[in-house]
Amino acid sequence: MFRHFRSDVKTVFENDPAARSRFEVIFTYSGVHAIWAHRVAHALYRRRWFTLARIISQTSRFFTGIEIHPGATIGQRLFIDHGMGVVIGETCEIGDDVVIYQGVTLGGTGKEKGKRHPTIGNNVVIGSGAKVLGSFRVGDNSNIGSNAVVLREVPDNCTVVGNPGRVVRRNGERVGDRLDHTQLPDPVIEMFRAMQGEINGLKDEVGRLTSAGEGAPGTVRAIAPASAENGAQGRPANEVKETMQKELQEGGKSKV
Ligand SMILES: CC(C)(COP(=O)(O)OP(=O)(O)OC[C@H]1O[C@@H](n2cnc3c(N)ncnc32)[C@H](O)[C@@H]1OP(=O)(O)O)[C@@H](O)C(=O)NCCC(=O)NCCS
Repeated sequence: MFRHFRSDVKTVFENDPAARSRFEVIFTYSGVHAIWAHRVAHALYRRRWFTLARIISQTSRFFTGIEIHPGATIGQRLFIDHGMGVVIGETCEIGDDVVIYQGVTLGGTGKEKGKRHPTIGNNVVIGSGAKVLGSFRVGDNSNIGSNAVVLREVPDNCTVVGNPGRVVRRNGERVGDRLDHTQLPDPVIEMFRAMQGEINGLKDEVGRLTSAGEGAPGTVRAIAPASAENGAQGRPANEVKETMQKELQEGGKSKV
């Protein structure tokens, strides 16, 4: 017990540069007080003194703002910084060397029975306000960003951020595309670009068909069905027009 006591104080110095003296840590660090109260409550819980265990944990909550259910299993050197608003559920298991900031919830989704709270691996950091909900595992050496809402298993060596939580870093490597807030995609411009591409394609196709028909740019095929009589096929458009005008002036019928 005394060994734990010393290790808890040492852990504060390792994690909090603001810690100045042992005296200060022992008397003012609510995270340390909550862990000590939990050790007592958990021992009673394991001996099935459930109500007394609960009274101790709720008293601790009253003084520290940290609620650790007596049934929760916590490892060595847990550091709860600031602490206010931390909730740790009954079936939660926490490994060694874990850091938890204020406002963290290690809870259930409300849909599960039995084991319904997360299992936190070793050397995990859980940022302020993060919610880890469900009976999955958060892998060793992972970081949960502040205010993340984690609803799925987290592999080892990952950083998870956002709501819903997503892995943005794994084994030190960036995962997925980075969202550049200064260069967000514009769907309207994208649509116009696509339309411009289609227009260019159609222009090319028309040019290709035109040059295949007459062999000279600026000529079009006559739309009217070609026949040996009118001989309009393949004649330049202005020539066809002139012929039609001439025939109209002469009072004859256009045969084009
Ligand atoms: C997540 C955290 C632990 C850093 O882990 P890390 O593995 O070093 O990750 P990085 O700093 O490399 O960040 C990875 C990406 O996630 C983003 N990110 C980091 N923390 C984030 C958060 N809380 N929410 C949203 N995005 C976050 C970063 O901007 C970065 O994005 P980019 O790749 O587009 O640049 C840290 O940002 C954090 O949230 N710590 C909690 C600290 C805390 O609660 N302090 C309270 C003190 S009172």
